[in-house]
Amino acid sequence: MVDYAQKITVNACTFEAWEGEGLLGVVSAYLNRTPYGFITDVSVKPESKGKGIAKNLVRNCIDAAQNEYGLCGLKLEVYLENRQALNLYKTLGFIVHSKRDQVLEMILNFRGESK
Ligand SMILES: CC(C)(COP(=O)(O)OP(=O)(O)OC[C@H]1O[C@@H](n2cnc3c(N)ncnc32)[C@H](O)[C@@H]1OP(=O)(O)O)[C@@H](O)C(=O)NCCC(=O)NCCS
Repeated sequence: MVDYAQKITVNACTFEAWEGEGLLGVVSAYLNRTPYGFITDVSVKPESKGKGIAKNLVRNCIDAAQNEYGLCGLKLEVYLENRQALNLYKTLGFIVHSKRDQVLEMILNFRGESK
């Protein structure tokens, strides 16, 4: 767990939405891997859901991955049953790349083609 926490701290980028002192939502991603970055977490506070916060934060992450880090795309994993998250990613252009048990790997290619 300490190793994981250090790995996140050193390598992960976060995109955050704040209201005053309160953190409403966060996206964490590894953008230092090539050619694809990896989104490790998307979370919005329960009372702040449904207001476009996650969509906005993932868009910021996509923008940084593409324009600051020059990556080919982004990958992530999501549980098949997580309808909200699945819809969120599909809305932003992610497609299902592979399936393992109940987990889908999704991919967004910035240049359009699926790899
Ligand atoms: C998934 C989650 C991050 C969405 O956050 P959010 O800020 O409420 O999402 P947004 O308001 O930005 O909605 C973006 C899209 O998500 C989808 N979505 C959001 N809430 C939904 C719901 N209740 N039912 C179906 N789809 C939903 C829609 O496609 C929506 O786009 P639209 O408004 O154009 O239809 C949030 O529900 C959450 O924190 N869930 C718990 C943690 C989690 O499961 N994270 C994902 C791990 S892979």
